[in-house]
Amino acid sequence: MNLKLVSQTPPKDDVSSIVENEEIIKMFQGFLEVQQVYNAAIKEVSTKLEILNDEFQVRYNHNPIRHIESRLKTAKSIYQKLKRRGFEINTQSAKKNLTDIAGIRVVCCYIDDIYTVADLLLKQKDVVLVTKKDYIKNPKENGYRSLHLVIKIPIYLSDRTELIPVEIQIRTVAMDFWASLEHQLRYKKDNNISQTINAELYECAESIAALDLKMQSIFKQI
Ligand code: GTP
Ligand code: MG
Repeated sequence: MNLKLVSQTPPKDDVSSIVENEEIIKMFQGFLEVQQVYNAAIKEVSTKLEILNDEFQVRYNHNPIRHIESRLKTAKSIYQKLKRRGFEINTQSAKKNLTDIAGIRVVCCYIDDIYTVADLLLKQKDVVLVTKKDYIKNPKENGYRSLHLVIKIPIYLSDRTELIPVEIQIRTVAMDFWASLEHQLRYKKDNNISQTINAELYECAESIAALDLKMQSIFKQI
């Protein structure tokens, strides 16, 4: 029998590779822990939003939220964003420097619903507002509209409580229609969209904004 093949013990001079392997295992473990805690934050905030939506249905017979999507940033996209912004590449740095590891998109029926949902969420005692960008009152140059919040919420773990940031994008169905297609087009063209197409997309965004106002006004009349 070839003892070399049976033996599982690494040769004595391979200490450095053991240390390296341990570092890698530690990194994987750290990343899994980040995923777990940010996933918990998504669950917490989604539940808060669902409870508010259910209450509205019972009290006012109107659901402000059409649907909720959520996503955990992938390891690849965490790595790319840290690199792009010149930050250190490790899990601590990701937790410290990125506020969109946990992301929730709330798609509402009407413009007023967006502000109602945001206000009711921000009123909750355990929700801390970090940043608010109102791209509805101040649309981006390309016509993009949505309300962006970064909040922090406590996640209770076995040995500690962590305040975890969650990025929330709140928009109407119409704004979501535009943003999703614009994103797809930009992605398809590797961010190289011609001036003409940009202008057309901007026009679409303006038409959609006008439609949103019209639908809001119809809703108020009924
Ligand atoms: P990021 O580095 O992309 O996170 O940008 P930021 O830190 O300046 O934040 P911002 O609030 O401007 O945008 C965050 C997210 O909103 C993006 O990752 C997109 O999901 C969405 N978003 C922002 N601008 C646009 C846009 O022009 N078009 C579309 N489709 N989505 C956008
Ligand atoms: Mg982002």
